[in-house]
Amino acid sequence: MGSGGEIVLAVMVVLCLSSQLEAQLEVGFYDATCPQAELIVKLLVTKAVASNIGLAAGLVRLHFHDCFVRGCDGSVLIDSTSTNTAEKDSSINTSLRGFEVIDSAKALLEATCNGVVSCADILAFAARDSIALTGGISYQVPAGRRDGRVSLASDTFANLPAPSFNVDQLTQSFQAKGLTQDQMVTLSGAHTIGRSHCSSFSNRLYNFNTTVKQDPSLDATYAAQLKKQCPQGSTNSNLVVPMDPPSPNIVDTNYYNDILVNRGLFTSDQTLLSKATTASHVKQNAANSLLWQNKFATAMVAMGQVGVLTGSNGEIRLNCRAIN
Ligand code: HEM
Ligand SMILES: *[C@@H]1O[C@H](CO)[C@@H](O)[C@H](O)[C@H]1NC(C)=O
Ligand SMILES: *[C@@H]1O[C@H](CO)[C@@H](O)[C@H](O)[C@H]1NC(C)=O
Repeated sequence: MGSGGEIVLAVMVVLCLSSQLEAQLEVGFYDATCPQAELIVKLLVTKAVASNIGLAAGLVRLHFHDCFVRGCDGSVLIDSTSTNTAEKDSSINTSLRGFEVIDSAKALLEATCNGVVSCADILAFAARDSIALTGGISYQVPAGRRDGRVSLASDTFANLPAPSFNVDQLTQSFQAKGLTQDQMVTLSGAHTIGRSHCSSFSNRLYNFNTTVKQDPSLDATYAAQLKKQCPQGSTNSNLVVPMDPPSPNIVDTNYYNDILVNRGLFTSDQTLLSKATTASHVKQNAANSLLWQNKFATAMVAMGQVGVLTGSNGEIRLNCRAIN
């Protein structure tokens, strides 16, 4: 074979390898089969977020929880049955929200193009739209995900990071999904919107460890305020606080400013300041909004590729809450 042929072969091998490494998703996947798909999702997300802005945060978190457990395959959307406890009913689920928005988009999509658009893609589009609606930059979502047929509550603990995690545990958790430490810091910035239940951080206020009751890495004034919002021993499990109080419904870099003044809400937020590498990314993001916005969009696309089912794997669920 001449050297021209070898080069062609080498290029083909490289192309083949890289398309195997990256999931075979593509922007505009539904252009021919359901051209209105992304518009329909955007319409219903816009409507829902207009009536309850918190749903934007809910949808972004749903996409994250979907992708980290069995890949972005819509498994977080599946309801439990008499014989199976699904991911959403794990005790780690604390307050996932936005399921009805996905249902409404799915219903209109089924009426428009039956059996074409996967629940996993709807969720990826909805997360993108939620970010754009709350002040983040919009980005193109490669699509073509197919829906999984398995959803187990027992899968959640080993795959989702806990708010008590330190930097090393967080890094490891994201690395296990093929995401870098920098991407972990970037994606944690999603905590710029939304809220948390008191139970997710109250250990930092009342029973940090055996020698210290209150986490010394938490700003004392902020801790006092949180104690008022989350009284010790309260039996009200519905109490919530905003995660980025200065701008709870705007996708911005305030989350990183919060951390710099010891006002990260979770251990998993504040811990980003405890190591030189992550701390430098926190500072960079706090100082450069455009940089973070761009990195966030890119990292969301990367997270959206984790463990996806494509081609003839999985199915296109007709109802996002149940396997076909
Ligand atoms: C780095 C590890 C992470 C940990 C430990 C973590 C943990 C949590 C916890 C405990 C809550 C509050 C749940 C509650 O008590 O109601 C929460 C909320 C939230 N998380 Fe994360 N998270 C992480 C990363 C992410 C990522 C990567 C995203 C998305 C890209 C994300 C998006 C959100 C959003 C938007 C909310 C607010 C949800 C709402 O208001 O309904 N989180 N997270
Ligand atoms: C979360 O799981 C608990 C059981 O641990 C369940 O009672 C609750 O309904 C679930 N929440 C959601 C939003 O699915
Ligand atoms: C408790 O936390 C404090 C502050 O982070 C730390 O200095 C101390 O070593 C911890 N004690 C135990 C027993 O873990």
